[in-house]
Amino acid sequence: MAKAEGRVLLPPTVEPVKYDIKLKPDLVNFTFDGSEKIRLDIQEATDEIALHVKEIAIKNHTIVLKAGSTEVKPEAVTYSIKDATVTFKFEEMLPVGEAELELEFFGLLNDQMAGFYRSGYKDITGASKIMASTQFESLDARRAFPCWDEPGRKAVFGLTLVVDTGLTALSNMPEKHRCYLDGGAKMEVAFMDSPKMSTYLLAFIVGEFDFIQAQTSHGVLVRVFAPPGRSKDGQFPLEVAVKALDGYDDYFGLPYPLPKLDMIAIPEFAAGAMENWGLVTYREVDLLIAEGASRKQMQRVCIVVTHELAHQWFGNLVTMNWWDDLWLNEGFASWCENYMAHEIFPDFAMWDQFTSDTQAAAMRLDSLRSSHPIQVPIKHAEEVEEVFDAISYCKGASVIKMAHAYLGADAFRSGLQAYMQKHKYSNTETSDLWAAWSTASGCKVNELMASWTEQMGYPLVTVKSFNGSEVELEQSWFLADGSEVKKEEEKIWKIPIICKGQKPVLMEAKTQKISVPKSDFLLINAGRQVPMRVLYSDETYSQLATAIQKGQLSVSDKAGLVLDSFALAKSGHLGADKVFKLIASFRSERNFIVWDAISQALTGFDTVLMAGVSDPTYAAFKAFVSKLIADAAKEVGWEKKASDGHLDGLLRETLINMQSKYSVDPEAMAEAKRRFDAFMAGDASLLPDDIKEPVFKMALKSGGKKEYQALRNLQAKATTNIERKHVYVTIGHTADIALKKDVLDWVVSGDIKIQDFFYPMGSVAASSKEAAALTWDYYKSHFDRIWSMCKTASPSLMDAMISLSARGFSTAEAAAEVEQFYKEHPLKQNQRTISQLLEGIRNLRCKASENRDWGVLAPAGYGSSGNQLVKDSRVSSVSKKLRTPLARQGESWTNAAFLNRILKTPVIEESFWKSL
Ligand code: BES
Ligand code: ZN
Repeated sequence: MAKAEGRVLLPPTVEPVKYDIKLKPDLVNFTFDGSEKIRLDIQEATDEIALHVKEIAIKNHTIVLKAGSTEVKPEAVTYSIKDATVTFKFEEMLPVGEAELELEFFGLLNDQMAGFYRSGYKDITGASKIMASTQFESLDARRAFPCWDEPGRKAVFGLTLVVDTGLTALSNMPEKHRCYLDGGAKMEVAFMDSPKMSTYLLAFIVGEFDFIQAQTSHGVLVRVFAPPGRSKDGQFPLEVAVKALDGYDDYFGLPYPLPKLDMIAIPEFAAGAMENWGLVTYREVDLLIAEGASRKQMQRVCIVVTHELAHQWFGNLVTMNWWDDLWLNEGFASWCENYMAHEIFPDFAMWDQFTSDTQAAAMRLDSLRSSHPIQVPIKHAEEVEEVFDAISYCKGASVIKMAHAYLGADAFRSGLQAYMQKHKYSNTETSDLWAAWSTASGCKVNELMASWTEQMGYPLVTVKSFNGSEVELEQSWFLADGSEVKKEEEKIWKIPIICKGQKPVLMEAKTQKISVPKSDFLLINAGRQVPMRVLYSDETYSQLATAIQKGQLSVSDKAGLVLDSFALAKSGHLGADKVFKLIASFRSERNFIVWDAISQALTGFDTVLMAGVSDPTYAAFKAFVSKLIADAAKEVGWEKKASDGHLDGLLRETLINMQSKYSVDPEAMAEAKRRFDAFMAGDASLLPDDIKEPVFKMALKSGGKKEYQALRNLQAKATTNIERKHVYVTIGHTADIALKKDVLDWVVSGDIKIQDFFYPMGSVAASSKEAAALTWDYYKSHFDRIWSMCKTASPSLMDAMISLSARGFSTAEAAAEVEQFYKEHPLKQNQRTISQLLEGIRNLRCKASENRDWGVLAPAGYGSSGNQLVKDSRVSSVSKKLRTPLARQGESWTNAAFLNRILKTPVIEESFWKSL
């Protein structure tokens, strides 16, 4: 393997120009035969050709290289399992110029959701069937055909599939022609040549599907494919896609370059969706919308579609040269998903939601010492799996949002258009985008952005003084645990300081004085354009509380203020009592996004208060929360209203969830039970999708075996994955510990597809402290089984297992236990996930955004290990400690610091809560 800038790459001597690939999948024996002709450009005389290959066998005698009129066969064929390469060595030097490599191969249609793989589905009659599809990002095209599997090696792809007549065969491009073979039993479907593109974007699918279609106003055919009988559930994503394609055409200034766009629900799918050019694949729940779907579900589908369609330009047309710049793909698409969703559905208020969702997730992870810079060197391609995380996606999107605010919408857009124009069908690095924006805006964008992408973390900006017209600000590295920043660790960011009514002013030094417009209150970072925290003086907080009550702050600013103040209490910069005084000023709030932020903050405080304060004080805290949400809960109610907007549906779920958690009034439980029973008795009208999950949880918590069984039956009979998912994510909340154990047995039984099997485990772990310990014990003793179920599958699955098996832990002992376990069971490529998990436990985690499934679906690496069964004696040593009513014992918390801080504030007095 060649090394450039420390990267492990295929030698640059030979470039692929065009692949002609023919594949013949066998859906009965789960194998496929393939042949390919690759047109090459030999750029430097060489006697070797190396390309990627994994889990497929090349038929040696078929390998031929044609250069000019000569045909040569390799004298040696060598495989490297480690690098997933095959090298053909020729007796003579191959001359510079055109050549053609031909070979035949054979592979397996695996069940690991990577490469060319199979999924099970039911046809219209309910019979079980098999379909085959692909997932190539990042490194799995090599599992389907030998190729130069690097994003910088763009080539043209001509694909032919040989399949049973009657099945649907799809690929990136439209069908060119077909002919029938074997007396009509088989058909050979040839697709048009693709544009020049990277291997990870190629896709092909064979199976039975129904579809619906529409045309964009710019003339592109858009189709949504679904399992037989379900195509009407594609109506919503079809409408979103049609609008988004036209919208992106205009925004990027280049028309969508392919003649068609297909979107398809795949029965077994590891990620949420994949942006294959012209053939976007989705997890069923992330594409199809059945009648009565919740607002949350519709929003998720809209976001996934707008995200993947953004990649059709940003990622597919212009592609990062190497995985180092993966963030550019994912961060930018994560910015665009909001941009386009906002264009299509302004009432979703996606830019406000960004504050409590994307930006909050970024800031949560990036305040850990185990975070990493947005731009990370990737030497070996396999390391890329680790950077599909909230830093690439969420911090990436957050810094793009900051650039948008600083450069202004016009320069941002025109720079982007110039970038697209200049680099279409080619590859780029981050600096190419900065260069385009610098030209468009006249700003030195590279200098502005470097401090945000090249160093990890983000700043805390402290208001040192304020005299009404001028503030003195100081910046420092914000760390979630408030740990000391040593002199040599200090960092400086270039921070756009944004106040309402004036242009951004750049803060470049440790301290800086900035003039601000006159106002009743001081608000730095208006509109939450910058991922940073702001610490004000006590007086400013009181003024802000008044402004909140007077309705003078925007939704984003309110949500940001709540999230900042919680984080600052946790890190020791702000008294918990002050945060609660601020939260108390939100009684008349009716906006979902603000309540979402409040709910995140309360969840964070709840764990510590439960552990650290007396029973009467804890009860007083819960009574305060009940009172805080009472008016809003009453007004929003349980029933959908004709006047409901999009956010009201989301708010209803949040408030019911909060009631189930904090409410001291039994009425809510009874109401949930009544609706649950009616639903189970066949009356679906009382349980709209918006409130299903909180109601299931409440019924499980207050009920027993009957409710548990009812939900298991519901899952067994479900015809859609979203119905199943409602059960998976709630079932662990059953109060009965034996039933929780039953859920865990279910997880490893093989009855749940591995694309979903971590959900029920996560729901058990989240249901109580005791259940968290139970889950961890169970995970450890079934580690071999779990690992064997998903070790060669997409990396995201093991990653989800790692995060969820320890969900709900927050003690030093627990962290030490988890750390020790992974020392004994090293998962090489999951190191980052594991360190982030450990630091998260130690810092006491608060809720990650549920909309985005962070921590559930953020994929990381997968590795190998020689795992032995954990011996029984080890299993219970720590868990016993965890099982003691630790929730009431202060001393075992790592976050002793946070707890101690809280204990020094008036919140330990019952009277404090009554005074709020
Ligand atoms: N390119 C990714 C899919 C992907 C993720 C491939 C990890 C390989 C490894 C796709 O564009 C994506 O980001 N999908 C997200 C959904 C999106 C709405 C954030 C996902 O799968 O969760
Ligand atoms: Zn993406």
